[in-house]
Amino acid sequence: MLRHDVVVVGAGLAGQRAALAARQAGSDVAIVTKLHPLRSHSGAAQGGINAAMGAEDSVDTHIYDTVKGSDYLGDQDAIEFFCQSAGPTVVEMEHFGTIFSRSDDGSLARRAFGGAGFPRTIYAADRTGLALLQGLWEHLSTEQFTLYPEWDLLRIVVREGRVQGIVAFDRTRGEFAEIAAKSVVIATGPAGRIYGRTTNAHSCTGDGVAAAYDAGAFLKDMEFVQFHPTALLESSILITEGARGEGAYLRNATGERFMSRYAPHVLELASRDVVSRAIVTEVAEGRGFSGPYGGYVHLELMHLGKERIESRLQEICDYCRNFAGIDPVTEPIPVYPAQHYMMGGVGTNIRGETNLPGLFSAGEAACVSIHGANRLGGNSLLETLVFGKEAGNAAAKYAASAPATSLRDADLREAVDPLRAWSSRSDGEDPSVLRTEMQATMERYAGIYRNEADLLEGLRRIRALKDRFEKVRVVDSSRVYNLNLTDAVEAGHMLELAETIFVGAYARTESRGAHARTDYPKRDDAHWMRHTLAQKSSTGPQLSYAPVAYTRWEPKERVY
Ligand code: FUM
Repeated sequence: MLRHDVVVVGAGLAGQRAALAARQAGSDVAIVTKLHPLRSHSGAAQGGINAAMGAEDSVDTHIYDTVKGSDYLGDQDAIEFFCQSAGPTVVEMEHFGTIFSRSDDGSLARRAFGGAGFPRTIYAADRTGLALLQGLWEHLSTEQFTLYPEWDLLRIVVREGRVQGIVAFDRTRGEFAEIAAKSVVIATGPAGRIYGRTTNAHSCTGDGVAAAYDAGAFLKDMEFVQFHPTALLESSILITEGARGEGAYLRNATGERFMSRYAPHVLELASRDVVSRAIVTEVAEGRGFSGPYGGYVHLELMHLGKERIESRLQEICDYCRNFAGIDPVTEPIPVYPAQHYMMGGVGTNIRGETNLPGLFSAGEAACVSIHGANRLGGNSLLETLVFGKEAGNAAAKYAASAPATSLRDADLREAVDPLRAWSSRSDGEDPSVLRTEMQATMERYAGIYRNEADLLEGLRRIRALKDRFEKVRVVDSSRVYNLNLTDAVEAGHMLELAETIFVGAYARTESRGAHARTDYPKRDDAHWMRHTLAQKSSTGPQLSYAPVAYTRWEPKERVY
């Protein structure tokens, strides 16, 4: 049986940073990942990483902006720690080899981002995630650790009140395996593919979050789903907020810069929930453009000039030219909001610890919570590195004193038997059909605007899909790279998470951040200033609630 002190699942920035910390703390570390680390979705993050570093900016302003951006649902003790860690984290990444863009005087270049009181987003053109990923991977590669690439997580084994290891599927050889581990760190990133329109890669299926939920971990605040305002029409490729940070305008079909009616002080640089709702409202009220891919508005960069557009937003130029056949130097970009980020995830504290001894989580898979009801752009890359390191340290510390694991053959059989049944059926449900129907359900019933009737109907449909999933069938009998099997595993994971989104959203009878209920349009601090916790049961997610941590910032109305 394979055996390590610490197994990190996921090899994006959070996973790599956790692995580095655990390794440097002396643990025997393995990374299990469905993608090669350099292909992780962290590499798709474009616009930048927030850190209050210049004399004109302050850590307190970063803290305040994040608290306000979260619509006061973020835990302020965690946010303080997070923002205080930002400067050292950016410096460390530069020492690891990340090359950030520079100002004329040689200092780190910074751009404005939504909801920020100061331009504090440090960047590497519009491929910041990739630049960080390459620097960190290069650094991590100097350490001794074991990599299991293109392995799918199937189950986290918990027995005797603690984690014993995981069961996984090695796609490359078509074999199931169990890995004993005292500590498991879930850093599997987003679950955006639950939705049809998403900026997330096809790999973003929430596997680690679903496995943690299945193992008994609390999921926190799952109802809060972020939609990025500017996704390229049709493909939903991210058009970075950095474009608006560089000065791009949003215009409706009448030529109006409509954000002046929604966020009169900062216009296009309001927080993402505000800008996304504004675009959806413009289209719904007939002031958008229309076409075969639905309504949209224009994002205009033309006035910035060719040199600035092509040097600061190189990838955006490529995406627009290659995927939409338009040149942003001379033409407006058609955009509409798409799912981008899950504020919810595996509930953790600042050290990445969950309610299950031996289970840790970091990055988008986790919910600490620093983003509360709405994340600010540029805080996600920072989150991966700050809390990846914390989780790796905590996992190593726990493993150093935990008793030996007692993973056994029966654990492998229990995890794998259902999958073998999927492959031996002569009739059953196609996982790709279930996935497509789930995505349509999420789009229609758990989108930017929600109400009781839609949430109930969406939940009913997801539960019907879960019932159908009981009869899922894998028709491909190949051993090696059986992506039909992977597809079924991922569909099962996403259906579980979809249910938690609906149940949490239905229960939360208020509007806060990204959770906008048309039937409860106001924020209701008296009843809902609390985190939602979802725990798996035989009848679906059981909800309970936890208080929000406060330090210095009293809740106020959020105005941009
Ligand atoms: O717009 C963007 O570049 C996205 C950044 C983020 O989600 O933090």
